Amino acid sequence: MISKINETKAFFDSIDEGLYGKKNVKDALALVYHENSKFNVYSQRKQGEKIGVFYNPYITERCSQPFKHYPNAEKIDLKVYDDLPTPQKDLFGTILNRRSVRDYKPDYKVSERELHIMLKHSYAVTNRVKMDEVDGHVGFRPIPSPGGLYSLEMYLVLFNSQTGPGIFHFRPDEMTLEKIYDGDTLSQFKEIVTTEPYININTACGMVLVTGLYERLSIKYGERAYRFMIHESGFLAQNLSLIMEAIGLGSCMVGGYIDDKVNEMIGVDGVFETCHNILIFGKNKMGK
Ligand SMILES: Cc1cc2nc3c(=O)[nH]c(=O)nc-3n(C[C@H](O)[C@H](O)[C@H](O)COP(=O)(O)O)c2cc1C
Repeated sequence: MISKINETKAFFDSIDEGLYGKKNVKDALALVYHENSKFNVYSQRKQGEKIGVFYNPYITERCSQPFKHYPNAEKIDLKVYDDLPTPQKDLFGTILNRRSVRDYKPDYKVSERELHIMLKHSYAVTNRVKMDEVDGHVGFRPIPSPGGLYSLEMYLVLFNSQTGPGIFHFRPDEMTLEKIYDGDTLSQFKEIVTTEPYININTACGMVLVTGLYERLSIKYGERAYRFMIHESGFLAQNLSLIMEAIGLGSCMVGGYIDDKVNEMIGVDGVFETCHNILIFGKNKMGK
């Protein structure tokens, strides 16, 4: 098998130094990163020592609850919706029906209850597990997270909502939204997030912006942390897109945006915390 791969690589090298050519691998940042974050027996053992340190209840408890907060922000309490019955939807049907939605019902205002359903089932602390050896607990959430270190933060940019327009940070431990900017930002985001002509941002209710704090993971996983952070973000986006499908909203991921302008809009530094995932959403026009 290996010799067959080597033969293929040699063949491509010999014709045009295509992607398989050593020179081009060096130029492809993604391949260089992936090569350099591969484990071999030695590096896995070395990293394993760092990982081992985390099998300590005190460290686990401290590290699994990285709750960023904005002490002076006005808050919207979404916990008040906790006792309402969860919508009952067929999971398998929802998975099969999910499609990206790029045009939304104009003037639809997303409700606090809809935001509550989206956030609770994507990244809220839903299960507090008491650890015998320590006073505190570990807070688990609906999606898998490398080492339970929860490296992500979520921001909601609302254009059209019952809550009013603004930028909000989600507190997963409290089920609250912290208002970090009051006012309509549609025209600014239209300049820096590439949606048109495919996605009709003018009819959207808002966007979910997901950032990652790489250091929350790299302290344990070294270079592999970046892979893991992106995995976690994929789980989050998948949950969100399925939840929206289930409750009659529609969403679409957006890959093109001016990263540091987006970071500036939500007030994060762009290096240690940086936006890497954008999901736009609105009311599904098809009335599902
Ligand atoms: C990381 C990522 C980025 C995407 N970026 C865009 C985008 O910028 N604009 C867009 O219209 N669709 C975007 N999409 C949606 C894909 O085009 C869509 O998922 C794909 O065509 C499959 O269609 P479906 O989602 O309806 O099943 C993106 C999807 C992913 C996973």
